[in-house]
Amino acid sequence: MNDHTQTLSDRADALEERMMHELGERIATKSTLFHLADGEVTMDSGPALKAANPDKYFLMGADPRLPKMPDKPTLIDFFHNRFASLNHLLQSATLALKNGHSEKVILACLLHDIGVASFIRADHGYWGAQMIEPYVDEEVSWAVRTHQALRFFPDPSVGYEYPQMYVKYFGADYKPEPYIVAEYERARNHKYYMTSRLICVNDVYSFDPNAKVDLDDFIDIVGRNFRQPEEGLGFDNSPSAHMWRTLMWPTRFL
Ligand SMILES: [Fe+2]
Ligand SMILES: [Fe+2]
Repeated sequence: MNDHTQTLSDRADALEERMMHELGERIATKSTLFHLADGEVTMDSGPALKAANPDKYFLMGADPRLPKMPDKPTLIDFFHNRFASLNHLLQSATLALKNGHSEKVILACLLHDIGVASFIRADHGYWGAQMIEPYVDEEVSWAVRTHQALRFFPDPSVGYEYPQMYVKYFGADYKPEPYIVAEYERARNHKYYMTSRLICVNDVYSFDPNAKVDLDDFIDIVGRNFRQPEEGLGFDNSPSAHMWRTLMWPTRFL
């Protein structure tokens, strides 16, 4: 037990030193999920950190290391300040635009991987769909959620094959989890099936570095199809407002 306490305390010291250096008077904490991603089942110890820094408070708002967000953030503000990469989203939406698809399909392509770009890879379709659900047509969020499963299954009727990239990434013998298979089975006869399938068709990995993609090309489509809350994303009391707030302030103590 002493060893364990020692380890936690060492960790807390190291963290505290780093954070104090970067944040001045505030101590930022990492959530358990961030530690799990490092292969450690642990959490930052509030009492230990506070004991080591009796004159400091924990961060309970914006993290000064991250880009500043406006008071009433829009989806576009999140694109610019919290999504780690826009290229894949923009190239997919650009392809959907070129292919003459509906605005719902284009928006679905633009948003299909925001779970990965901003939040978490695992079950990214589900997370991404939940984030946007209160603000888009149900067809769009359904398609975003379901593309995660459909990506693993070919559909010759639209020329969609199992992605070679998945063979490269996961191995030739990879089999999707039973819940993904079940999701696919349910989706096949759903009225929005093709919307989600079109995300897969336009979900391009190879990117021409010379191709011009620009978020500005989609501002109008977002404006017409994403119900931006007046109070700002995170402050409208929607069922997913907390997710946007967490993305805005990921290192708040509580
Ligand atoms: Fe995806
Ligand atoms: Fe994708």
